[in-house]
Amino acid sequence: MFHKEMKPFPENFFWGGSTSAYQVEGGANEGGKGPSVQDIKEVPEDTSDFTVASDFYHHYKEDIALFAEMGFKAYRFSIAWTRIIPTGDGEINEEGIDFYNAVIDECLRQGIEPIVTVYHFDLPAALAEKDGWRNRETIEAFVRYCDILFDRFGDRVTYWQTINEQNMMTLVGAVLGTSTGTLQDIYQENHHMLLAQARAMTSCHENFPGLKIGPAPNISVVYPKTNDPKDVLAAETFSALRNWLYLDMAVYGVYNAQALTFLKEVDAAPVFEEGDKETLAKGKADFIAFNYYSSATVEFYSKEMAEKENGSSDQQIVRGYPGFFRQVPHGNLETTEFGWEVDPVGMRNTINEMYSRYRLPLIITENGLGQRDTLSADGKIHDDYRIDYLQKHIEQVQLAISDGAEVFGYCPWSAIDLISTHEGFRKRYGFIFVDREDFDLKDLKRYRKDSFYWYKKVIESNGKDLSK
Ligand code: BG6
Repeated sequence: MFHKEMKPFPENFFWGGSTSAYQVEGGANEGGKGPSVQDIKEVPEDTSDFTVASDFYHHYKEDIALFAEMGFKAYRFSIAWTRIIPTGDGEINEEGIDFYNAVIDECLRQGIEPIVTVYHFDLPAALAEKDGWRNRETIEAFVRYCDILFDRFGDRVTYWQTINEQNMMTLVGAVLGTSTGTLQDIYQENHHMLLAQARAMTSCHENFPGLKIGPAPNISVVYPKTNDPKDVLAAETFSALRNWLYLDMAVYGVYNAQALTFLKEVDAAPVFEEGDKETLAKGKADFIAFNYYSSATVEFYSKEMAEKENGSSDQQIVRGYPGFFRQVPHGNLETTEFGWEVDPVGMRNTINEMYSRYRLPLIITENGLGQRDTLSADGKIHDDYRIDYLQKHIEQVQLAISDGAEVFGYCPWSAIDLISTHEGFRKRYGFIFVDREDFDLKDLKRYRKDSFYWYKKVIESNGKDLSK
């Protein structure tokens, strides 16, 4: 669509940045924190574990001051469940409460709106030992944990996100270190997470008026590889499973029909207990937070193709499922150093489709470029590639706003360097460089990257000045 005149970014737009507790905090064994699945998982041999991360636990004041210097209006971060309740469902750890009180107060002191994710890949290890999300008791533990957060922090935190990228935990749980199992196991866990989210949303609305709550999936447009109607259908099925299953539930309180049918066809449909349908129907989001890095492309994948290639239905439906679809490279998009396709226009498509389906205010809670950075002898980081990526995506956000979508914030990943989910510290995303390597902690000193100064200018001009 062409616009005679672009709409400006709204006043009070939440320009900010994003992190998650286990990837940035460190202090893994401090302050009474219990272990999460991220602390006990086996990390790839050539990457760091999460014990120290960026040591935000000890540097939070300095880091939030740097966010404020960039002009952040919002900081989206997650709370570690195991700092608040070390065993997941037992005693409250007041030291953990104190830590997040301090972080929230520091944000507010600096004029930054705290936007909190309740759960970002870090299920308490003690709950994982009791079968994690496969066990319905985890739903109760989650709802209690959420109520504690709303109660203790809701006087200062208005915007809450339930579960970060539940769809990625379902599609690539093994890579993220969250969970594995048969397809049926995985979708049963998913069902329990959906119930937990619905219960948390309902409790938030009934018991804590004034707070706003939404989901935080990773949403991306799914292109058919060709205009062959079979490819178009394949893309639609994959999108139903990847995207709409999560948002239909968060907004309408029902399973996406196509996704549920697919799950039945592949013998992975969740088992409902009495009352589940009603519980799900009650949970309604106030806004949609979503993460976007890249688009997806899909082709029809027949059973014959799979047999010929000796292909398997290896339970990894993110790659493909014979008889339905499979993901393929786009073919016309550049890829990053780490192999991710870059598709800024896809972000505009994604926003527009989401807004026309759900009509709720949207906030982008992750988007960014993971790349190696070099610290020069004079303490500079020339990350033009990151500026380029962000610039192109912000342009598309403004185009989507001009198309008619309601977007109220942009919080790219990541506010500061942190550890990638499975590719170590060398894959950096931040505006602020943290001087450490995967196996050499150095001094963890903070340096402003070129993108830091650029983003400051973007925020100051409320998105008018995107020039380098
Ligand atoms: C999102 C996650 O999937 O992508 C983050 O919410 C993650 O936790 C980010 O770090 C980038 O992915 P990766 O694998 O490069 O760390």
